Amino acid sequence: MSELTATADPSSLQVLLAELPSGLLAGRRVLVTGGARGLGLAFAQCIAAAGARVVLADILGELAESEAEALRAAGHAAHALGVDLADPAAIEACAGEAIRLLGGLDGLVNNAAITNSGGRDAHQLDVDLWDRVMNVNVRGTWLMGRACHAALAASGRGAVVNLASDTALWGAPKLLAYASSKGAVISMTRSLAREWGGDQITVNAVAPGLTLVEATEYVPLARHQKYLEGRAIPREQQAADVCGAALYLLSGLSRFVTGQVLAVNGGFVMN
Ligand SMILES: NC(=O)c1ccc[n+]([C@@H]2O[C@H](COP(=O)([O-])OP(=O)(O)OC[C@H]3O[C@@H](n4cnc5c(N)ncnc54)[C@H](O)[C@@H]3O)[C@@H](O)[C@H]2O)c1
Repeated sequence: MSELTATADPSSLQVLLAELPSGLLAGRRVLVTGGARGLGLAFAQCIAAAGARVVLADILGELAESEAEALRAAGHAAHALGVDLADPAAIEACAGEAIRLLGGLDGLVNNAAITNSGGRDAHQLDVDLWDRVMNVNVRGTWLMGRACHAALAASGRGAVVNLASDTALWGAPKLLAYASSKGAVISMTRSLAREWGGDQITVNAVAPGLTLVEATEYVPLARHQKYLEGRAIPREQQAADVCGAALYLLSGLSRFVTGQVLAVNGGFVMN
């Protein structure tokens, strides 16, 4: 164990990066949706540090660009694209441009999602919100995969990592649209894994537990407390805690792993 990993906060990104096997993703080309902030940004930073060239695509195009610029300043190969995953034509254009910029595609991290679905009871949820969440989280995930399929197949080692959520596994209340969308992402992951295995593409999902990012600041304290008390590892979950799972599922280490849901939640839900 290095001095850094022995003494630093075990949930920090620096510790994870210090432990990365060198060249884990060397030469790979990866598109990360929702890469401007939160988990998607942490994924993009780790993926770049693992040697891949990366495109950060997000509805927050300017923020994605400034994060790509920071990655370039640190010596990595990174680009940014603006995209609204609710718009099928924009998804096609984004995938095409990412594949052009990278000269092909080996990995897709379908991370972008509407993460705050209102915190309302199911009987008060409105149809517009349900439709928006489903369009971005489910249809957007499918359409981005579809738009990238040919390039991933051409790679010969394509890997899709879909972001699910443990809310789809434990029946989280007041999150009906969001949790349902993530349940659909899990089903989609399994169906695509069957259909695309013959194209040498693995399709897996990562299901994080409640992770501290800007977007989860709205989550009531009681839910944070419930997670804290329910985890086998009794501490808050950080974005860096989820990165190892994504790196593994994008790398050659998981070449025969497909159709799986990797729950990363400190043991809150044991799948
Ligand atoms: N943070 C958690 O507790 C947690 C837990 C389980 C699963 N997840 C999943 O992890 C992923 C990342 O979530 P996060 O917590 O970092 O939240 P976040 O809101 O910070 O990240 C979502 C990203 O997606 C982008 N996005 C939203 N709508 C978009 C659209 N229409 N088109 C393009 N981009 C769009 C946002 O701008 C943002 O950058 C999501 O799929 C989320 O469901 C998060």
